Order: sequence, then structure tokens, then C-alpha cells
Amino acid sequence: MLFHMEMQRLNVTGGDISKEPSESGIFRHVRFPRQRCLVVLVLLSVWVLMIFLVTNLVTLHTSLTPFWQLGGQGETPYTNNSEREFFSPYHVAYPQSYQFILDEPDECHDQSPFLLLMVPVAPGNLVAREDIRRTWGNESMVLGQAVRLFFLLGLPSGEGAERLQEEVLLESRQYHDLLQSDFKDSYFNLTIKTMVMLEWLASRCSGASFAMKIDSDMFLNVHNLVHMLIDPTTPKSNFITGKFSLNNRAVRDRTSKWYIPAKVYPNSKFPPYLLGNGYVFSIDLTQKIVEASKHVRAIFLEDVYLGMCLKHLRVVASNPPSSTLFKLSMPYIHNRCHYSTVITTEMDHVSDLLRVWQDLQSPGTSC
Ligand SMILES: *[C@@H]1O[C@H](CO)[C@@H](O)[C@H](O)[C@H]1NC(C)=O
Ligand SMILES: *[C@@H]1O[C@H](CO)[C@@H](O)[C@H](O)[C@H]1NC(C)=O
Ligand SMILES: *[C@@H]1O[C@H](CO)[C@@H](O)[C@H](O)[C@H]1NC(C)=O
Repeated sequence: MLFHMEMQRLNVTGGDISKEPSESGIFRHVRFPRQRCLVVLVLLSVWVLMIFLVTNLVTLHTSLTPFWQLGGQGETPYTNNSEREFFSPYHVAYPQSYQFILDEPDECHDQSPFLLLMVPVAPGNLVAREDIRRTWGNESMVLGQAVRLFFLLGLPSGEGAERLQEEVLLESRQYHDLLQSDFKDSYFNLTIKTMVMLEWLASRCSGASFAMKIDSDMFLNVHNLVHMLIDPTTPKSNFITGKFSLNNRAVRDRTSKWYIPAKVYPNSKFPPYLLGNGYVFSIDLTQKIVEASKHVRAIFLEDVYLGMCLKHLRVVASNPPSSTLFKLSMPYIHNRCHYSTVITTEMDHVSDLLRVWQDLQSPGTSC
């Protein structure tokens, strides 16, 4: 893709040069004697060789240039307005200057919890918040360790945004578990949400031991999570684990939810990264990633972006102690045994959460 970009750029200048010899040069000289022809041929060869060298040097140079220094001035300018509109949502502005509207500044003032569960959720998704509060979000003491839950919201937009915001403020007064920042809540702004989460953890709760980012449509076994984290073999710093993405290629299919234009991310491969629906990390990483983000240009795929920041920090994500702890798809038969052995898993239906949870709490063998 880099190469493609460079070729485009070269075409702009190369096109102009190639026009001249073809119109005023070669064709005029065709009728001239042989020596002239030879001279033109030699000149042409030299010119082709030079183009070849320049192309290769530029490619070599860009592959050695850190990613965040690409783009910017180097980027091919937009050619027309419709193209600008097409690409705009893929550009993420993370100026590190978003402000909290709903904050819980004293949460870790007296005593920091061992683990913070951070759940990004759309402002309008009250149903998911209620379900989580009634299930895995209601665990405040697990294996003797304090656990705290927060939901992360951006600003509602569109029709009914004002009323929704009033409801959010009321909900916050009731539960004190909402963190809201002043960016527009949208799919393309999920990277901002993750970064704002890390900012909050670094500035408000750096005394905690671990935090987990987990999506609102996931099942979480908090007991198994804490069990893994208190294990003496679990590193206390520079630690992050979850489920590694197996496909590290940038998606160029425009119909895909994960499509990313080459103009936004020129490399064809992503660095290794953990899937965004659930990853857990030691608190020391929060400030480090926030620092790294100043040097790594934001992209809207939040989990890939985290991988890019970790690569910048030279922090390598860990494999979980067992590959079955972070599950993506459901097995053919999923019963109590499945939910009692994982840390996280996706569910066929989010509405299953209450039923699954009640089943897990009821007496009887867990597996
Ligand atoms: C603008 O760019 C888009 C996307 O590349 C293209 O489809 C469209 O034809 C262009 N419009 C003009 C007026 O050049
Ligand atoms: C949370 O758990 C406590 C018991 O630990 C229970 O009394 C309370 O009703 C639960 N809250 C919700 C919203 O289910
Ligand atoms: C992301 O948030 C910023 C700040 O509120 C906003 O200007 C921008 O339009 C949002 N982007 C999308 C794609 O919603």
C-alpha cells in the first residue's frame, strides 16, 4: 500500500516528465539519423533507470520511517469534496483534550480497588447497563479483592440527544458508575473512548492493580479473572493479555465493518494486537500508552491502535495461562460448564446474560 501511495505520488510528477520527451522528443527524432536515435535511446535508458532507483529508494525510506511520521504532509491531498467526505469518518481526532462531563474523581481517593472493569457503551444502551449491573457488574469483592465497575460514554447525538443526556445525568446520580467525556459517541470514535478510559485510569486510579476493558455484550467470569490476576506468576507491570487477533491484515474491502483506507493506514499488516471485546492490563501501562499515543497517529480501530501503541512501547502482550480463557465464538453445546471455565466469552444473544448468570449462581456442580 505504501508502494501504491508512492506510485500515485510519482505519477503526478512522472506524468509531466513523460509527456515532454514523448511529444516533443522521441517522435520528432524518429525521422532523424541513427546516431541521434542512439543518443535518445541512451538518454531514455538513463531516465528509466533513474525512475527505478528513485522509486526503490523512496519505498526503502518509507519502510524505515516510523508509521506516525508518515501521512500528514506526505499524504496525497484529497482531490475532490466527495472523496473528502468519504474518507473523513476514518480519520480520528484524538487531541488529548477531551473533558469529562461525568467523572468520579474520588473513586480511588481513599483506597484503590484491585481491579477496575471498564465497559464502553452507547449512551442510549441502558438495557445493557442494567443487565451488567445485575450480573457480572455486581461483584464488588472477589477472592478478597475489591472490584469496581465503570461505564464509558461519549455524548449522545441526533434526535432526542438532549433528553437522553438528562436521563444519563439522572442515572449517574443513582449509580455513580458512569464516566462521560465530551466527544461524540460513535463507532468511529471508539479509539477516543479507549484513550479517554486510559487517561482516566492513569489520572484517577493509578493505585489500582489491574483494569479490564470489556464490551457490554460479553459474558465475564469475574471470579476466574481475579483468580488469574492474583496468581503469583502474573506480572504486575507491563502486563496485558486477552485474545490475540489471528488476522493481522488491514481490510481493504469497502463493504466490511473493519474496512480501513490505505490513506489512513498505508501498511498492509497490523502489528500483533488483542481483540477489543476484552483485554486486561496492569495499571502502569495506562500512563505509558497515553504517552505513546502522542507519537502514534490514531486510527479508528481501537484494538489495532492499542497494538500500535504497545509496539511503540516495545511491550509484548502475553498469552493467557490457558487459550480457553478468552473465548470468541460459542461451542456447539454451551452449558454451565462453558461459562464456569472461561474468563470472557461472546454470547449468542445478549438477552441470555441474566439467565446464564442465575444458572451459574444456583447450587450444584459448576462443571
Ligand atoms: C470525486 O471522487 C470520487 C471518489 O474517488 C469519485 O467517485 C468522483 O467521481 C469524483 N468526482 C469528481 C467531480 O471528480
Ligand atoms: C447485587 O448483589 C447484592 C448481594 O451481593 C444484592 O443484594 C443486590 O440486590 C444485587 N444488585 C442487583 C442490582 O442485582
Ligand atoms: C468524533 O468526535 C468528535 C468530537 O466530538 C466529532 O467532531 C467527530 O465528528 C466524531 N466523529 C464521528 C465519526 O462521529
